[in-house]
Amino acid sequence: MAAYFCGHFSYMEFVLILILGGTIDGATYNPLPFSVAVMVLERLLIKCECNMEIVFATNNLHKLEEISALLGENFQLLGLKDLNISEEIPEDHATLEENASQKAWYIYNRTGKSCFADDTGLEVSALNGAPGVYSARYSRMGEITFPDMKPAEGNIRKLLMELEGVTEREARFRTVIALILNGVECQFEGIVKGEITLDSSGAEGFGYDPVFRPAGYHKTFAEMDLELKNQISHRAKAVQQLTEFLTGM
Ligand code: IMP
Repeated sequence: MAAYFCGHFSYMEFVLILILGGTIDGATYNPLPFSVAVMVLERLLIKCECNMEIVFATNNLHKLEEISALLGENFQLLGLKDLNISEEIPEDHATLEENASQKAWYIYNRTGKSCFADDTGLEVSALNGAPGVYSARYSRMGEITFPDMKPAEGNIRKLLMELEGVTEREARFRTVIALILNGVECQFEGIVKGEITLDSSGAEGFGYDPVFRPAGYHKTFAEMDLELKNQISHRAKAVQQLTEFLTGM
């Protein structure tokens, strides 16, 4: 099933373009025959009652709370624990888009419930976009590995080694969210641009935060107030698009 980037559409606009015809990100869609349009409307609109249940494919309580607050009362957000899903969800593709999609479809096929999943990577220009989709396990891969260090520590150590002597340190965090609503997939993207610092600094946050300085700021993510990071981050931007789409239904 094709996935659509839906960040700049409301849900209603998206549905109307699919039914009446129009253009989404350069692709042209012809109007649907009447009987098919009725079926799509039934699937996409009639099932979207108030207080809709939606599953987020995560066990991270912090992420669940944050998104639940943004979605408001009309949505009941469930995590994997709420559904007693404890197995590891496969994510074995080479792009963030494919991984987010794979996780969301896995949960949709397993539960039949509308759901979404996210995947994030740090993309460093001088490293041709690495560590990217492999950000979580960077220090366990390739020629330079730090198997005895905690992953976050090893990842940072390896990144700084790879960039030793490199002056062009442009990087970005990118989050992709794949949403499956009544069998139709839609994707949202959030990006924050910045650069990799020469050394680690700061104690807040997680992952690569101590070495990522967002553009326009003098502090790394790990030196920032968490509240500020959560307002400007890649994840915040992707989640904002998701919530605008869902709450605009
Ligand atoms: P996930 O897809 O959210 O699990 O992120 C994958 C990996 O990207 C994490 O294990 C971290 O190494 C890194 N990462 C994701 N988001 C952030 C962030 O906000 N700050 C620092 N590192 C991050």
